[in-house]
Amino acid sequence: MAATRPVLDVRDLCKVYGEGETAVRALDGVSFRVEHGDYAAIMGPSGSGKSTLMNIIGCLDVPSSGRYLLDGVDVGRLTESQLALVRNRLIGFVFQAFNLIPRTSAVANVELPLAYSGMRPAERRRRALFALDSVGLADRADHEPNQLSGGQQQRVAVARALVTGPALLLADEPTGNLDSHATQELLVVFDDLHSAGRTIVMITHEGEVGARAGRLIKVRDGRVTSEIRRSAA
Ligand SMILES: Nc1ncnc2c1ncn2[C@@H]1O[C@H](COP(=O)(O)OP(=O)(O)O)[C@@H](O)[C@H]1O
Ligand SMILES: [Mg+2]
Repeated sequence: MAATRPVLDVRDLCKVYGEGETAVRALDGVSFRVEHGDYAAIMGPSGSGKSTLMNIIGCLDVPSSGRYLLDGVDVGRLTESQLALVRNRLIGFVFQAFNLIPRTSAVANVELPLAYSGMRPAERRRRALFALDSVGLADRADHEPNQLSGGQQQRVAVARALVTGPALLLADEPTGNLDSHATQELLVVFDDLHSAGRTIVMITHEGEVGARAGRLIKVRDGRVTSEIRRSAA
């Protein structure tokens, strides 16, 4: 197989909030790589720097120092508008809160990221239905968010994140608002996406959730403290 560049190449990232005596070193030299097809969980206790790292990986914030390459693009060199483009093209976000548009069908929610792509409506619909099918919700396409369970809503959010074909699915505490049954359903969806070759980075503080990923990157006090790579279960 030909060598390909990693999806994420994070090198010695530091992030300091504030200045002087009140400065907080939220990230203190974080380095790791995520290859195409990896399923990685970033785990750590509250305050360890997970959200800070997620915001930098997601191009929502910039590091104080260090380098960050996303699909070979040196993100540190981009302007604000280029960053927005990278964010929209390369990353599919899933958050703890599902953030679906109310009184709008599941399929219309999933189509939303394609709205300004210049794609024809029929093609947008086709892709949205395909994405809904990939999370097991093809038969719920016409349902509005309040007609869906929390677990189903989060799967719609995953379909919306995937519809643009991003290089990376980036999920911050995706099971944080789900009960244990819905958590298991979402983890099955992630397993399936991983099997289909998707690249997933999930941030979580739940050990059981992180244990499903092929790679476990543990952070504490802004540093990577351990990295475990499991062979396929
Ligand atoms: N905007 C901010 N200003 C100042 N300190 C911050 C800010 N965001 C986070 N921090 C601090 O940085 C550290 C890491 O926070 P965070 O990345 O939110 O950790 P986690 O998501 O793992 O709980 C904490 O000490 C937190 O208080
Ligand atoms: Mg956090």
